[in-house]
Amino acid sequence: MRLVLLGPPGAGKGTQAGRLAEKFTMATISTGDLLREHVENGTALGREARAFMDRGEYVTDDVVVRMVMRRLGDDDAQEGFILDGFPRTVPQAQALENALAAASRPLSAVLKYKIGDDMAVKRLANRLTCPNCKRTYNLAFKPPTNEGVCDACGHELVRRQDDDEVTVRRRLEVYREETEPLEFFYWERGLLREIDAEVPEDVVTERTLEEIADLADVEGA
Ligand code: AP5
Repeated sequence: MRLVLLGPPGAGKGTQAGRLAEKFTMATISTGDLLREHVENGTALGREARAFMDRGEYVTDDVVVRMVMRRLGDDDAQEGFILDGFPRTVPQAQALENALAAASRPLSAVLKYKIGDDMAVKRLANRLTCPNCKRTYNLAFKPPTNEGVCDACGHELVRRQDDDEVTVRRRLEVYREETEPLEFFYWERGLLREIDAEVPEDVVTERTLEEIADLADVEGA
């Protein structure tokens, strides 16, 4: 299965990708996580990406496309993958489509998580992330058992630098300008499936699994 998870900041893409990765054998590829690793390691790519990320704007297409194409070549991505946060622009979507067509590995579906702006701001203002195992917590909806520490791996939790309200509002604007056009791009190709994400995490997971089951029926037909 080859999935793209689409949706604005705070929609729950990373949360659902993590849950799907526990259930299925698929590589989970988050461009946000890959870019943050580059920033942390001080690579040339990370230095270039940092200024964009701090402003809540997108890193340039050529940089992100190269990074993802390299990752899609890894062994664990051959069985299937979940792309979280890629593509985000029409040129990125076209690059992905061309690469997958050349490898005769078309996308299975694009799952779009729907959420309003105020809910996104509320979720991100309260988000804590584990930089080690990438699990997310939320002080309003899902706090860790022990304050400031990851339940799964015991690492100290951090607040992402781009989660302040001003930057989140900018990220939402950029999403509307650059990423919303992808909904039509994928709808035209019959790949888009929308999921209401303003409901508890477990319910979103249930609906995601229903879409995947339906997809398996269609693919198997
Ligand atoms: P990225 O890290 O991908 O950020 P994003 O897309 O803005 O998405 P988030 O990670 O903020 O939200 P999410 O939807 O994953 O929500 P989460 O599951 O964490 O990208 C960061 C930056 O990198 C970009 O701004 C850009 O600069 C750059 N970048 C990345 N990809 C790029 C690309 N392709 N091209 C160019 N630049 C790129 O959940 C949020 C919170 O809500 C958590 O606290 C969680 O616990 C909680 N939560 C989740 N679901 C629910 C629920 N159903 N109910 C209650 N709480 C919930």
